[in-house]
Amino acid sequence: MERRVVIFDHPLIQHKLSILRNKETSTKDFRDLVDEIAMLMMFEATRDLSTESVKVETPCGIADCKQIAGRKMAFVPILRAGLGMVDGCLKLVPSARVGHIGLYRNEETLKPVEYYCKLPKDIEERDVFVTDPMLATGGSAIDAISQIKLRKPRKIIFMCIIAAPEGLKALEEAHPDVDIFCAGLDDHLNENGYIVPGLGDAGDRIFGTK
Ligand code: PRP
Ligand code: URA
Repeated sequence: MERRVVIFDHPLIQHKLSILRNKETSTKDFRDLVDEIAMLMMFEATRDLSTESVKVETPCGIADCKQIAGRKMAFVPILRAGLGMVDGCLKLVPSARVGHIGLYRNEETLKPVEYYCKLPKDIEERDVFVTDPMLATGGSAIDAISQIKLRKPRKIIFMCIIAAPEGLKALEEAHPDVDIFCAGLDDHLNENGYIVPGLGDAGDRIFGTK
């Protein structure tokens, strides 16, 4: 199947994104919105899950139904900011496992520095959804996905809230087999590697550290 690159145009996502971007939005509201947007994105990102037919006895007869055919999933947030998207994803797929990959961007070189990686043991049997609100230069996502690929998961899907064109292009080229879901695609990166107009520093806004 061809790889999917989805930029959402759903009115609910666009509305929530407009509040998320506002510099006056409180830490609590920011966190809640990241959670809600991730949940809405997960709804679309799971569209291709295979299903199997089951018969269900209702109070009035037998219904031909579909259930998800045992596809195992794992969510892997890129620390810190990716953590903010995990609960929203788990609301739709509560049985998923959660791994963690710790990377921060050196603010001078803009290169990612890895400091932690803990993934589910049976990751080879799972579809892995990597979450990070921001895809700026793409360095963090590209490195995280390269690390995860060493463990040979069945499939990798990347989900971010805002992408810069530069980061999206870099990620598409580095990992042509990875599906990519972005709630919004912005204009450009500034000289400090921040997405413009973006929403500022996602980690600081989720955790209230600035
Ligand atoms: C932010 C963001 C991404 C990365 C994106 O994390 O959450 O992980 O920057 O930038 P890139 O595409 O240019 O690599 P940051 O390094 O600020 O760490 P934090 O989540 O701990 O705040
Ligand atoms: N990381 C962020 O949190 N925001 C940006 O705009 C770029 C990288």
